[in-house]
Parts: sequence; structure tokens; C-alpha cells
Amino acid sequence: MGNGPATLGIDFGTSNSAAGMRIDGSPRLIPMEGGETTLPTAVFFDFDAQQVVYGRAAQSALIGGDEGRYMRALKSLLGTPLMRESRVLLGKRTDFIGIVGRFLAEVKRRAEKETGQSFTHALSGRPVRFHSADADRNAQALVDLRDCYAAAGFEDVRFMPEPEAAALANRAVLEPGDLGLIVDIGGGTSDFTLFRQEGEDAIQILQSHGIRLGGTDFDKELSFGQVMPHLGLGHQIKHAFGDKTHEAPVSIFADLATWQKIPFLYTRETRKAAADLARYAVDPDVFARLVQVLEDELGHDIAFAVEAGKIAANDPAATAPPRIKLGIVEKGLEAELPAALLAASLADMAAQIAEAGLRTVTDAEYAAEDVNRVIFVGGSSLLSVVQDAMRRAFPAAEVHHGAALTAIADGLALASSRAFA
Ligand SMILES: Nc1ncnc2c1ncn2[C@@H]1O[C@H](COP(=O)(O)OP(=O)(O)OP(=O)(O)O)[C@@H](O)[C@H]1O
Ligand SMILES: [Mg+2]
Repeated sequence: MGNGPATLGIDFGTSNSAAGMRIDGSPRLIPMEGGETTLPTAVFFDFDAQQVVYGRAAQSALIGGDEGRYMRALKSLLGTPLMRESRVLLGKRTDFIGIVGRFLAEVKRRAEKETGQSFTHALSGRPVRFHSADADRNAQALVDLRDCYAAAGFEDVRFMPEPEAAALANRAVLEPGDLGLIVDIGGGTSDFTLFRQEGEDAIQILQSHGIRLGGTDFDKELSFGQVMPHLGLGHQIKHAFGDKTHEAPVSIFADLATWQKIPFLYTRETRKAAADLARYAVDPDVFARLVQVLEDELGHDIAFAVEAGKIAANDPAATAPPRIKLGIVEKGLEAELPAALLAASLADMAAQIAEAGLRTVTDAEYAAEDVNRVIFVGGSSLLSVVQDAMRRAFPAAEVHHGAALTAIADGLALASSRAFA
């Protein structure tokens, strides 16, 4: 135990969150949902039951077809004007500060229930950058996140860059003198930290860099490229007069392919726009699917199907040919996703990630060859296309795979006892 206030280490991720504390010098993650130490960063406002559910339960409620509002990738909204736009949910006026606050309060509540102690303070991870280039938005995102922790009932919060936490968690594989690069490819961001291992428990951070690119962007690319054409993207619409045609506008499809935009699509206006497309379409059957997806609110079901397809297509041990299963939209509908197509679809983004990794090193005036350890963490670091791009960029490094989904929470748990000491 440290000598500061009771502090919970929290990894608030785009896709998954986790929390923990330090016990006898080791990180201990706290079970969040039925023994699992990760909690999907998802919230469901259930309109029938008039309650809010979180994590896997939110996912089940959504898939079970309960009437309500499902939200994921909330972290990507930090720093945007949407955070403070007020809306009415379950009869109460709230905004996204309040919604993220409720999620963090739930993490706090579960941690307290599990451990029997109360946590007044939080040590939170933060991406090196929330938004790639925009300094004002990055600063605002941190202000927003701080307000979310306050809304959750924490007296105070301190922040640690996520890759720094991951480096701490991986100290066992490191030797003094190592020049290491932490590569954290998560749901919303890719973060890099170059560090020198100094002693057993001491690392010196030399450089950090991050870009806003992660697994939800991969999902978007795959959904847009492989699924949306089945719903009308790229298909022709007839003009009201004459026999000219034009391509359907992309905006509804772009939003439908984007996790955090989906909840805003189910409006009368979008439904009418889709119905108009179907009415004038050269191939109305394709657009009928779009109409139905908006009517039945199937946007998240599609997004889950895309994510599952991505993970299946990346699995070298998979036996069935990988596909994105869209039976929820129409019986038997599916989009093929062979590994080669997955790699080709994500090649540009993987290259951007590798380039950002290289830049982290060159900005610190080292060469790629100087790096002798690359440590992968984050769920999206499991993708071969990403690993291959990084290996090409750092040919001299020994590659380690940390705990993809929990390394950051482990590091925050380790550091939590001293965060306010
Ligand atoms: N086996 C897998 N293969 C490929 N991608 C995966 C796999 N498992 C999880 N992912 C992807 O990893 C992402 C989640 O990773 P992680 O939990 O590290 O992100 P996060 O911490 O929530 O996000 P961030 O750190 O960007 O805020 C999701 O996009 C998910 O689809
Ligand atoms: Mg993360």
C-alpha cells in the first residue's frame, strides 16, 4: 500500500476498460463483470426497463433487441462539442460528460463492491494524443475526461500516458540498457513510447507520440468497403426527370460504418432520405436493406458483425472461410473477407501506424536499428497486418507480446499507490 489516498488505477479505453490496484508490489485487476477483468466501454439506456446497463450486459441488451440507446467508442467523443450537448435520456437531461461519468461511476462502484474499500481518487490512463493533430481538441479532451471523473464521484484524478503504464507492466522482460518501444494499438488510438530501461523498476521515457487510429477505424474501413456496398453504397439513383443517374450520396453509409455515429442515425430525416433513395434507385432491393437497417436499428449489429469478421479473418487457425455475417440484415447475406482482403484493406492504415512508430524514434534522434525491444499491447496489435508493418520498420528489434488487453491497466494499478503520495 502507498501512503496516499485510496486510488483506483483505471484504463478507460475506447473499446474496453479495466481497473486495478497495487497489492504487495504487484498489479491486481479487479473483476468487473462475472469474473472478467475487462469491461467493454459500452452503455445501454434501456427504454423498457427504464435503466442503464454497462459492458457485456449492454451488448446483450442491444443484441437481444431491447428498445433503447446503445453507446460505444465514447472516448472518441472527448474534446468534441458533442460532449456538452445536452439530450434527454430516460426522462433526464444529460450530456456525454454525464454519460461517461456514469460509466466511470459504475467502474468505481464495482471495484468498491469487489474489494470492500472505497476509492476517493483515480489514476487514469490517457492516450498520448486523443486527436491526432489538433492541440486545442487534445487539451479539451483532457478537460472533458477530468470532468467525467468528477461526475463519477472521484475527488481528484491524475493522468498517466497509456504507453508509460504499459512499459511499467512489462518491466519483467526488459534488461537495463534496453532501448524499447511500446506499441499500443487500441480501439481508437495508436500510441508509441520510446524508453530506456534504467534499472529493475525504473524506466526513462525518451519520447511519446500518438495518432488517432485504431481498431474502430479498421472496422469502419471494412464496413464501408465490404458491407455498405450491399446496402447501396456506390449504386445508382435515377433522377426524378429524364434518364440520367447519379451515385448514392455516401454520408449515411459513412455514418453507419462509424461506431460512435450510429446512435444518431435513427431519425425521421435519415429514414426518409433512405426511403427516397430506395424509391429512385436503379436497384431498389439493395436500398431496401438500408431502409430496413435504419427501421430496425441494426447499425450496431452490423458493426459487431464487422468486428467479429475482422478478428476471424486475422485468425490463422480459422477453419471456415472468413466472412462478415449479415444474416441479421437479410437471411444468408454475407461479405467475404479472406485474409488477403483484410490485409489489403488495412495496409494503408498499418503503414501510417508503422510510420508513426518510426517518427517516435527519429524525433528522439535515434535510428530504427537502435531499438532492441518492441512491445506490442492493445487489442489491435494482434492483427498480422499491423505486426508485419512494425517488423519491417524495426528489423533489429526483438518483439514481445504483452498482455494485449490488460497491460495498461496493470501499469496503472502498479502506479496507483504512489500517484498522490
Ligand atoms: N484478436 C483480435 N484481433 C484483432 N483485433 C482485435 C482482437 N481482439 C480485439 N481486437 C480489437 O482491439 C480493439 C480493442 O483493443 P483495446 O481493448 O486495447 O482498446 P482500448 O484500450 O479500448 O482503446 P484505446 O486504447 O484506443 O482507447 C478493438 O478494436 C477490437 O476489435
Ligand atoms: Mg487502450
